[in-house]
Amino acid sequence: MGATVIVGTQWGDEGKGKFTDLLARDMTAVVRFQGGHNAGHTIVVEGESFALQLVPSGVLYPHITPVIGNGVVVDPGVLLRETAMLESKGVDTSKLRVSGNAHMIFPYHQSLDALQERHLGKNKLGTTKRGIGPSYADKSMRTGLRIQDLLDEKIFRQKLEVVLHQLNPVMARVYNKLGFDLEEITETFMNEYRPKIEPMVTDTISLVHEELEAGHEILLEGAQATFLDLDHGTYPYVTSSNPTAGGACVGSGVGPMYIDRVVGVAKAYITRVGAGPFPTELFDDVGDHIVDVGHEYGTNTGRRRRPGWFDCVMMRYARRVNSMTELAITKLDVLDDLDTIKVCVAYEHDGKRITDFPYHQSVLHNVTPVYEELPGWKTDLTGVTDRSELPMAAADYLSFVEEQCGVPVRLVGVGPGRKQVLDFAA
Ligand code: GDP
Ligand code: IMO
Ligand code: MG
Repeated sequence: MGATVIVGTQWGDEGKGKFTDLLARDMTAVVRFQGGHNAGHTIVVEGESFALQLVPSGVLYPHITPVIGNGVVVDPGVLLRETAMLESKGVDTSKLRVSGNAHMIFPYHQSLDALQERHLGKNKLGTTKRGIGPSYADKSMRTGLRIQDLLDEKIFRQKLEVVLHQLNPVMARVYNKLGFDLEEITETFMNEYRPKIEPMVTDTISLVHEELEAGHEILLEGAQATFLDLDHGTYPYVTSSNPTAGGACVGSGVGPMYIDRVVGVAKAYITRVGAGPFPTELFDDVGDHIVDVGHEYGTNTGRRRRPGWFDCVMMRYARRVNSMTELAITKLDVLDDLDTIKVCVAYEHDGKRITDFPYHQSVLHNVTPVYEELPGWKTDLTGVTDRSELPMAAADYLSFVEEQCGVPVRLVGVGPGRKQVLDFAA
């Protein structure tokens, strides 16, 4: 028994929340290990939809301890609004635990995120403007404030004063904006947030290791995805953390030897929100059809997601950098009406065929996808409950993907509901 990691294998929104919820049935704890409320993880249970940003997706089960790990950046106000939302829907959040080492997002991080995007003009990244990048930047600069700093007002003030001393002149001179007020922020964080956050603050390293040492299985829930990874993604069009499986160790405090399963979640096609290269992007009616049928608008920001065909070149890279043991393919049902379905098996660049994801950004920007075109199944899959009921063309599509990517497909989503999943290992 050990830890299972869930990672996004494309550019996010693959359905990680749904599969975390599904796998959490057999676990004791679910740990978010990176990112913050830039994530939007949707779980649909008996027609009711839960959109989670910070709280781990296992929270819907009473037996799960949901843990926000040290690698996450936490906006305490957002966290409290989310727990209040869950409580109002009858979900008990009293077991939620937050690492004292997780860094906090402050109002100035959010402002800086928006201002930096504005200054980039047409080169903007299309961030979620949640303050994620600026908060991780402070963490790297060693000027960030952690959740544990909430527990000591003197330390909190001292650290915040240092930050504002540097930040406020920048706000005034670079951005022509008012600075931030130490008293105002301290008042909100100490009086509004601290009393409610303090009971959640825990030594999450001991917590997860006690679970593992007791022989329990735990789940490490990734946000964002492999190609949004700060190191492995399409830099600079990435997020500021490591959503890949290695990040799961760093951001949760679980060493690599405990990880016995890495589930890569992939849509049966691809979407991307925000700017950046996307070799198989669709600009035609098929793309519009996928966006319509798949409701491809951000859970979090409401932005239209850019659609494209499934890309095996990307998936081979994702398999390698994550040590992926299996694939969970979601949204197969979204392709139900298509006559034919394209799958990218290689790229072409300067007359050469490339099967490995190019590390060089200018190569990636100029590749032409090489497609195999497979027949569609033209059947409604949303009521399929067993692998044996899949039409031949759908089964062939999955086998093709499996073979091209070199990783077994273990789970398949045929609808947003908790029960709309085929377990190929069952
Ligand atoms: P995450 O960020 O990876 O957790 O994914 P999101 O929740 O942002 O986006 C996935 C969307 O697809 C959500 O609205 C899910 O309810 C929905 N979804 C997940 N799996 C399936 C599936 O197999 N079929 C369909 N039609 N929708 C799905
Ligand atoms: P989940 O967990 C899709 C994208 C943003 C932008 C880039 C950087 O729901 O899959 P950031 O605000 O993180 O600095 O933005 O990353 N992005 C996501 N795209 N799903 C997400 O999360 C994302 N989180 C960030 O759109 O392109
Ligand atoms: Mg999402």
